[in-house]
Amino acid sequence: MAFEMVGVVGLGTMGAGIAEVFARAGLRVIGVEADADALARGRGHLERSTQRAVDKGRLAGADRDSILGRITLTTSREDLRAVDLVVEAIPEVLDYKLSLFADLDRICKPETVLATNTSSLSVTAIAAATGRPGRVIGMHFFNPAPVMGLVEIVSTVLTDPALVPELSELAARLGKTPVVVGDRAGFVVNRLLLPYLNQAAVLMEQGMAARDDIDAAMRIGVGLPMGPFELLDLIGLDTAYEVMGVLFDETRDRRHAPAPLLRELVSARLLGRKSGRGFYGDEPRPREPEKSTVITFALVGEDVGELAERLDAAGFRSGDDPDVILRTADRPVIEHAVQLQDPAKLVGVRLVGNRVAELAATVLTSQEAVRAARDLMKVIGMTPVACRDRAGFVTDALLYPYLNDAVRMYDTGYASIGDIDAAMRLGCGYPVGPFEMLESIGLAVVRDGLRALYAEYREPAYAPAPLLDQLVTAGVRAFPRA
Ligand code: 3HC
Repeated sequence: MAFEMVGVVGLGTMGAGIAEVFARAGLRVIGVEADADALARGRGHLERSTQRAVDKGRLAGADRDSILGRITLTTSREDLRAVDLVVEAIPEVLDYKLSLFADLDRICKPETVLATNTSSLSVTAIAAATGRPGRVIGMHFFNPAPVMGLVEIVSTVLTDPALVPELSELAARLGKTPVVVGDRAGFVVNRLLLPYLNQAAVLMEQGMAARDDIDAAMRIGVGLPMGPFELLDLIGLDTAYEVMGVLFDETRDRRHAPAPLLRELVSARLLGRKSGRGFYGDEPRPREPEKSTVITFALVGEDVGELAERLDAAGFRSGDDPDVILRTADRPVIEHAVQLQDPAKLVGVRLVGNRVAELAATVLTSQEAVRAARDLMKVIGMTPVACRDRAGFVTDALLYPYLNDAVRMYDTGYASIGDIDAAMRLGCGYPVGPFEMLESIGLAVVRDGLRALYAEYREPAYAPAPLLDQLVTAGVRAFPRA
């Protein structure tokens, strides 16, 4: 089937982005919104996004005009009569979608494909409510749609199998990589991404670490394009909350229960970028803690090499009566602290990459020692990430369960290793996919880290996936790829 004219219903951030993607690929687009005000906002999204590309020198002014010229905006669904495909991107309320799909079913020609960009609802339920379930499919884009290179094509048990390659080809024509998945809550990306984002909110709420420290750990330390709170603000906290609710309903995994903090922010209509404020807003930046003037330290533990060299190069020397005792560690350090004459001085330190130092404060560590450790790390060019002395500190506590979830997802047969890796790279801009990351960290290291998390939290989902455990036991260092 040739897709030449498409309808996009709902011109919020995602819908407008999707309309832009189609128009950029040369297709004619009819964008539909509920009323004149919403339509004006949709037009604003389209104009700003394309203007931004012009300002950056990525798009010629004339090309922008032709892109916008290919998009017709209307408030009448009836205008979708002749389109080949409709992509729906309206709010995530099943009743709204069912009523829209009933209208589309009536209005559009029989061969028109009806696609939903839902992040959380069942595509099967939407398909089953139409008179053309074989021609209903999920086409899930990622925010910002013009930038992210993935489209999840969600095929249900009702979908006409011939449609799947057609829509995959269309995604490729849009410059996106299609990954074909079945209709399970969260598909591939949201199923792996959202529990990690939710967990970040839980950690912050538990006082494990501060917002900016968690974001810095994941962005600067791990190399993700955004920290979890920056990304939650981009996605929209209402969307994140809805996806978590649906995941929880399907899995009953308590890690998927939306963090209470998310509910609180959503109730307050602090939804992230779309409402101007979410985890971040226009609040004044927290003041930098005052720097200690003279810092003396002792560095103990294994693998002190790189830290010792950096501290030495910055002119710091170990002292006899240190302000802070830094103990290199990848596990809680309280056992070491209690052996000391002055446990208040002990701070666990672990490097994440070569730019972040996690600093673990025990229940006995003094604020002065934490401040001294923070200052020291800054002076040697590391971003300090202060956290509590808990298994996994910040990065492992967030990363390892995500890696474990990816292994479990593969092991259930839902998606291949290649598809999961590609989905996370292209859908979220991750530098590598979870299996590539597992192999670069080391399967045994991740397995052992998960065991430590499990021992501390007794959280069933932290127990290493049986496949991971078996590969480590078998001495295998890479996942079997077809
Ligand atoms: N609209 C259009 N284009 C945009 C844009 C937007 N909102 N934001 C950024 N861009 C473009 C810029 O114009 C720029 O293009 P250029 O290279 O042609 O000039 C490019 O993207 C890079 O932008 P910037 O240099 O301004 O900013 P960054 O380098 O910081 O990148 C980012 C911004 C692309 C958003 C990057 O931070 C990123 O990849 N973040 C991760 C986003 C992510 O994970 N998305 C998926 C969320 S999950 C989801 O959407 C599913 C849903 O169901 C919940």
